Amino acid sequence: MQYVVFGNTGMLVSRFTLGGMTLGTRFEPDQATQVVDEAIDHGVNFIDTADSYRDSEECIGRALTPEKRDKVFLATKVFRTFCRNGKVGRNSRVNIINSLERSLKVLKTDYVDLYQLHHPDEQTPVEETLSTLDQMVKQGKIRYVGVSNHYAWQMALMLGESKANHWESIVSFQASYSILDRQIEMESLPFCTKLNIAIMCYGPLCGGILTGKYQGLKEIPEDSRAAGNRRTRDYLETADVRKIVERLEEIARDNDLKLNQLAILWLLGKSHATTVILGGSKSEHFTQIYEIADRTLPECVVKEIDDLSSCRIYCPFANQPFRMGPGLRKTF
Ligand SMILES: NC(=O)c1ccc[n+]([C@@H]2O[C@H](COP(=O)([O-])OP(=O)(O)OC[C@H]3O[C@@H](n4cnc5c(N)ncnc54)[C@H](OP(=O)(O)O)[C@@H]3O)[C@@H](O)[C@H]2O)c1
Repeated sequence: MQYVVFGNTGMLVSRFTLGGMTLGTRFEPDQATQVVDEAIDHGVNFIDTADSYRDSEECIGRALTPEKRDKVFLATKVFRTFCRNGKVGRNSRVNIINSLERSLKVLKTDYVDLYQLHHPDEQTPVEETLSTLDQMVKQGKIRYVGVSNHYAWQMALMLGESKANHWESIVSFQASYSILDRQIEMESLPFCTKLNIAIMCYGPLCGGILTGKYQGLKEIPEDSRAAGNRRTRDYLETADVRKIVERLEEIARDNDLKLNQLAILWLLGKSHATTVILGGSKSEHFTQIYEIADRTLPECVVKEIDDLSSCRIYCPFANQPFRMGPGLRKTF
């Protein structure tokens, strides 16, 4: 397992993070404990969850005995409103304090290592959010503050406010990043790299599309991510996606890899991708990835995949934002 310093912090985290989103919904409680144990056994020392992932924090709380708790950095997020009949901003003082207290209780811990704002909240003044998070750090309930799904300008605003007021700064950015979703490369990624903000990549298999499981199927299987998730279905129905996946399958075969392993190795090859958050609905979805923890892709393969998928990059500053990238022109 590779380990890296997590942005501007003193944490040394594994390049794989165990994603907790499915633990409470796709696994029985004892299976979820087994997934957590296997991750730790394979050297994973970072676990990501959220107050809005149904029963996930409960599963992780059950799995992390005090001895295991000490071995991992634990990250959760605030998003759900648990109080005032939902009539509070998600990132308001009231909601953060309530949600964090609840998270600590179900996670059976006194502190979380990383507390993230799951989404921006246009309703709450950023000063209220940041001063509350700063207090939570001072009270020892959270160690570091991060954000997820924010624009670069929102992070810039937060960093400026934190600096001006001597509050804790955000240290990490969690975003969707995969071969098929490279939007963060346009702005957030250069921004975070410049300021050494750690990048946590979620959706590394684009909801499972990068396993090849949907190739050649006329109907979407009922128990799959695409069946219940509009965004995954939209991706799948985009004309170029199946063609890209077809070519990726060939590249994987040539390199003696499964497609999911290739997709994860492509991310690991990007030094700006601090840690890749793994998702799965079966134990083997995770273990297949641990097998390749110490492998790297040849540079020429990374380059070929970069070119192949460059047609999936949104170009906001180009004359024609949705122009075809070089990958699309060359390949299809
Ligand atoms: N911050 C955010 O807004 C945000 C959003 C999403 C996720 N996340 C975090 O990122 C983590 C990972 O995200 P993700 O679950 O979207 O990741 P992903 O890797 O893109 O998708 C994982 C899904 O792909 C399918 N899959 C994975 N391996 C497979 C295999 N070998 N064979 C067949 N199917 C396979 C499974 O879905 P099915 O079996 O159901 O088809 C699995 O649940 C989450 O657990 C969570 O911690 C954060």
